[in-house]
Amino acid sequence: MLQKNIQKIDKKTILEYLEATGQKQAELFSLSKKIKEATFKNKVHFRGIIEFSNLCQNNCFYCGIRKGNKKTHRYKMSLSEIEQTLDFIDQSDYGSVVFQSGEIQTKVWRDYLLKIVTLTKKKYPKMGITISCGEQDHEFYKKLRQAGADRYLLRIETSNPALYKKLHPKNMSWDNRYKCLQSLKKLDYQVGTGIMVGLPGQKLDDLVDDLIFFKDNKFDMYGLGPYVVHDNTPLVTPSVKKAWKKNKEQIFNRTLNFLAIMRIMFPKANIAAATALDVFNPLGRIKVLEISANIIMPVVTPTKRRKDYLLYEGKPCISEGADDCYDCLTSKIKNWGLEPVFGEQGNSPFYYQKKHGQTKRI
Ligand code: 5AD
Repeated sequence: MLQKNIQKIDKKTILEYLEATGQKQAELFSLSKKIKEATFKNKVHFRGIIEFSNLCQNNCFYCGIRKGNKKTHRYKMSLSEIEQTLDFIDQSDYGSVVFQSGEIQTKVWRDYLLKIVTLTKKKYPKMGITISCGEQDHEFYKKLRQAGADRYLLRIETSNPALYKKLHPKNMSWDNRYKCLQSLKKLDYQVGTGIMVGLPGQKLDDLVDDLIFFKDNKFDMYGLGPYVVHDNTPLVTPSVKKAWKKNKEQIFNRTLNFLAIMRIMFPKANIAAATALDVFNPLGRIKVLEISANIIMPVVTPTKRRKDYLLYEGKPCISEGADDCYDCLTSKIKNWGLEPVFGEQGNSPFYYQKKHGQTKRI
């Protein structure tokens, strides 16, 4: 009954379970866990994430690396620095890489990203390549795909265009972001999107609409997490910060419940456990891997860069190295009864099902 009601997005049920705690939450988690295990067993796939540049032309009101934050030291990793990081991913046998950066649309920058992808494909032809570099145009997405990119992550941030407008400057538009997602789909990427849970001004109804948006658009992957304050952003006034701190527990709970609901709705999609979950609880990501997600993205960015890639406050692991994150995450995963998988790309079963009408072996 619960499964059916969630899968048909019965609003009353969703609203009730988004706020669930105690016994009710346990019931939700046990169902989502069962559904996750039917597809993924207890396997966890990795993507080493390289935050290769924090240069950004945008001014999203919530984000710590927005252009207007003059307190951030800007960097772009050199090709050889990236290559060394890729070597680490290869040695760790993570199977996939994510290249993430702020959004820049100049030709010079695009050529650079193409170079990075080409180099990766050439040196590590078996490595899955995900890009997370924001809104670009169809032609460039096409070039990246041809150069060897397999997947693209672009969060819609919220499915509500009016809320989107409140969180972004005038030159950014929800419609364009949505257009980008459609382009990526046409180009046969595995497409991932997501939202932030707990955004100032976000209503529970918005979260229901986000689920409807996901269902209507059939994405292959989801990466979503809680909103976390960052002082040097226009969204954060003393009163917003106070309210966020007060509601921290509720935001975390809501995110867990949202992710459990997502898994029940999308049994075969790849769902990543967002790093921001660990701001709330050091086992945040691991808990989500137990009840919903099948993907984790260990940060492999060189330590000296990490403090400059702060999208939000309290980001974990900023003084750690890639090897620390490897040790910490693999042991946490194992201790929790989950199985880290090495040497596989861990592609989205939903993507294969869409293409071939059947699920590829995970
Ligand atoms: N809190 C949580 N997530 C954030 N992101 C940006 N700023 C924040 C924040 N303050 C997320 C956005 C973006 C992704 C790369 O990081 O959803 O798409």
